[in-house]
Amino acid sequence: MGLKTAVLGAAGGIGQPLALLLKQNPAITELALFDVVPVVKGVPADIGHVDTPAVTTGYVKDEDGLKGALTGADLVVIPAGVPRKPGMTRDDLFNINAGIVRDLAQGIADFCPKAFVLIISNPVNSTVPIAAEVLKAAGVFDPKRVFGVTTLDVVRASTMSAQAIGKPNSAPEYTIPVVGGHSGVTILPLLSQAQPALPKSLFDDEAKLKELVKRIQFGGDEVVQAKAGAGSATLSMAYAGYKFAAQLISAAFEGKTGVVAPSYVYVKGNADVTKAIGQDLAFFSVPVELGPNGVEKVHPLGDLTAFEKELLEACLGELPGSISKGESFIQGSK
Ligand code: NAD
Ligand code: LMR
Repeated sequence: MGLKTAVLGAAGGIGQPLALLLKQNPAITELALFDVVPVVKGVPADIGHVDTPAVTTGYVKDEDGLKGALTGADLVVIPAGVPRKPGMTRDDLFNINAGIVRDLAQGIADFCPKAFVLIISNPVNSTVPIAAEVLKAAGVFDPKRVFGVTTLDVVRASTMSAQAIGKPNSAPEYTIPVVGGHSGVTILPLLSQAQPALPKSLFDDEAKLKELVKRIQFGGDEVVQAKAGAGSATLSMAYAGYKFAAQLISAAFEGKTGVVAPSYVYVKGNADVTKAIGQDLAFFSVPVELGPNGVEKVHPLGDLTAFEKELLEACLGELPGSISKGESFIQGSK
């Protein structure tokens, strides 16, 4: 088995380290790197020297490169678009990134309609509905194959929880579902469902618990502030994006079973999700069991504590509007 993986936006802050990580996956035999800037030709020249199987090629938009990058792709990862600066919300990126994701999704519809699509570009809460609408209009939308990458929230939840309980080296031990969306209060970390359980003392200390949840929800701002105008999370995002891509590859192409990871996916009509959140939303990040078809099964959200129910209410105050904004961007232009 040899997989072709395309990275769209591969010359960027996320794209380059993500390409390097993907180059190290032995299942990938062709790595296609696409961007609007010509430096994307230099990235494969560089990582192409790494002694792993993937043959790595750069494609520039001006040279009709999207077709070359996408034709035959099994997996497409999209970190294309502008990042935040201090003082901006992710939604402030909509005006630029919506059109970028629309055009790239059209390329997927045209050149690799059966590929798994992993969307990183913000605002994820809206860009995933945009991609879905483009694919629907082209008659090729498969709700099991389109993923908004929310793994950075999952990674942050483990790291920040370990720090909060005074065991900063123990992050890898904690698996914590993070559901909802990928922006501020739409990010809903279910700390009560951590495996193994977080200490009871954390849940008894309301102020500390709230502080931890807020830190996970606004973790992106920490990085945006620290980079002071030079962008947002790139390296931890490349790690998280690769982590999810590798989970999907192992489950979809290598026969690994029991791979469950939260992702922002199409859940319209899913009775369990509707019951759990009280609305029939089109998209919600849920724990997804991955397999040959992509989304094989959506796992239950489980019992929420009273505090988590409050967080869910706040999430639902924002998320439906972000979904509609993305859908209308495509539907309104028809
Ligand atoms: P960046 O500016 O460093 O890189 C973006 C790249 O996209 C650039 O190389 C640019 O040339 C390219 N690009 C622009 N338009 C394009 C197009 N039409 N086709 C192909 N490539 C195009 O930005 P970054 O730091 O890598 O962030 C990229 C995006 O990822 C941002 O929208 C950011 O908000 C988002 N992000 C998401 C998460 C998440 O958790 N989902 C985390 C971090 C960043
Ligand atoms: C993040 O969570 O780090 C990303 O969504 C980038 C951002 O804008 O914060």
